[in-house]
Amino acid sequence: MAKGTVAWKIIKEHLVSGKMEPGEEIAIKIDQTLTQDATGTMAYLELEAMGVPRVRTELSVSYIDHNMLQTDFRNPDDHKYLMSVAKRFGIWLSKPGNGICHQVHVERFAKPGKTLLGSDSHTPTSGGVGMLAIGAGGLDVAAAMAGEPFYLKMPKIVGVKLTGKMPDWVTAKDIILELLRRLTVKGGLGKIFEYFGEGVKELSVPERSTITNMGAELGATTSIFPSDEVTRAYLKAQGRDKDWIELLPDPGAEYDEVIEINLSELEPLIAQPHSPDNVVPVREIEGIKVDQVVIGSCTNSSFVDLTRSAKLLEGRKVHPDVVFAVAPGSKQALELITENGGLLSFLKAGARILESACGPCIGMGYAPPSGGVSVRSFNRNFEGRSGTPDAKVYLASPETCVACAIAGEIIDPRRLAKETGAKWIRVEMPDRFPYGDEAFIEPLSPEEAEKVEIYRGPNIKPLPPFDELPDRLEGEVTLIVGDNITTDHIMPAGAKILPLRSNIYAISEYVYHYVDQEFVPRIKAVKEKGKAGVIIGGENYGQGSSREHAALAPRFLGVRAVIAKSFARIHHANLVNFGIVPLEFTDKSDYDKFSLGDEIEIPELTKRLREGKEVLVVNKTTGDEIVCRYNLTPYQVEVLLGGGRLNYIKRKQSQ
Ligand code: F3S
Repeated sequence: MAKGTVAWKIIKEHLVSGKMEPGEEIAIKIDQTLTQDATGTMAYLELEAMGVPRVRTELSVSYIDHNMLQTDFRNPDDHKYLMSVAKRFGIWLSKPGNGICHQVHVERFAKPGKTLLGSDSHTPTSGGVGMLAIGAGGLDVAAAMAGEPFYLKMPKIVGVKLTGKMPDWVTAKDIILELLRRLTVKGGLGKIFEYFGEGVKELSVPERSTITNMGAELGATTSIFPSDEVTRAYLKAQGRDKDWIELLPDPGAEYDEVIEINLSELEPLIAQPHSPDNVVPVREIEGIKVDQVVIGSCTNSSFVDLTRSAKLLEGRKVHPDVVFAVAPGSKQALELITENGGLLSFLKAGARILESACGPCIGMGYAPPSGGVSVRSFNRNFEGRSGTPDAKVYLASPETCVACAIAGEIIDPRRLAKETGAKWIRVEMPDRFPYGDEAFIEPLSPEEAEKVEIYRGPNIKPLPPFDELPDRLEGEVTLIVGDNITTDHIMPAGAKILPLRSNIYAISEYVYHYVDQEFVPRIKAVKEKGKAGVIIGGENYGQGSSREHAALAPRFLGVRAVIAKSFARIHHANLVNFGIVPLEFTDKSDYDKFSLGDEIEIPELTKRLREGKEVLVVNKTTGDEIVCRYNLTPYQVEVLLGGGRLNYIKRKQSQ
């Protein structure tokens, strides 16, 4: 079992409950939180509903970086709501244009030895400075802001030993692509990746953050680097010397597993469509014509990435058939390349400059052409994510991206260098970064904060109160679905539905919209009768994205129980968080004993949950009595009995 590693030490120091044995439930104290606007509006509506006067973390930051298109009032209204909430609750606000949450957090707030919970899956980026940074659902982040610990299963700690020295034209991106090639997108489930070894000191903080960022694609809980002299110099240049502590693994530290990467043996790699683990050496697929190239995203648009890319473009031109764009990761990075001449090199080469935000990463304002090939310095290339369903997106280092932009086709940057005489440069860190504090709004004092009125545009609706779980649940079967239902089936995304994320009344109209358009009217009629909605599901119910609206919106409509053959992990947790009881068939063939509209009764539900006994589901229409089990921790039972985590925390606050 792991012991004495960096991640292990941080967990130990923050442990609130549980045993630090892989797979055991633990609770840890959270020092910092971050949200971005796409998930943040709901997280703050939840925080409001918890009745907390002010955040209880050491530091919380609300970033506005995702939904930047302002084609009507909805996104700007959300931004204004976020700005007023930040003032009201003692939260830092990073204004639109200041940059991508993870980049900016590393620059200005991430601290070695601390914990960070963020409502975005790439929160582990801050692991680049030796912070334990974990992505979670909005409600978990809201709970952390209210001072609640974060519950998770103790991950295994995998040591990634970096040996050797990176050859020229090999970058941090190639290290994480190599790991994805070896382990696949499922290889990191339930694991923390902790980097150690001689090769670590070769990497600057932004390079380390590229690796911890894209560790999310392994499915890892998080990734982390030690905090060493490199970290110290970086924080000093950010004017944050005081935030530095040394944090190294103990001599003889033990990892649950060790993987070794010899940096000297790496070469430029590229992930092919449509998965970040579909990785091959760039040289193997040279010659594919390219329509579009983008440098940006929270993975690879730091000052280091932009400076080296600009240098490579200096005196060269983007290929006439390629549209090349740069979205700097932060205002700080943009300021620095403005000062060092990099911006001019991009412009003179024919680049299009986008704002410092997520932009093309979520198909916002820069989608590829139909069937087009786009080479990106990003972290995800799932089908359709770019905004163009049949586009082919490749993921590579910024240097490989620039080589492709110049050549008009996929090309190994080493070959381009040989043919054009381009030289590899080592980017030195500045002695002092521009702090960019003008783009932050600082938290107000408690006295000033109390006077702030929260702004709500017409699209922003507070959450309604949710009632407790009755002991005798009376309901009707309102939907029967098969195996592998995804959260996209339950709560679809898309340009029409996404802007409704801060309006539970409007967004709930779309629950199961593409599966059964009668579901919403049906459950509304059941609710009118004062009964609960019950959904019957197959295997792996709720797989896919972690979106919490897939539990929140059904609960709002009146669903109180889902009886399934099995559940996907995150959705199961989300159901509990919003007070929907997830029951499993003890005998899977009982699935066939239900029809739409059957009347259901679950007697002694709260009593049995409390006693840990199996639950009896009575189908009053057929007379069948079905035994169901459940997989709930004592904490989750408490949450369910009280009607969900919002109520649970609200009650705790008032005690
Ligand atoms: Fe933004 Fe894409 Fe990162 S949406 S937070 S740049 S993964």
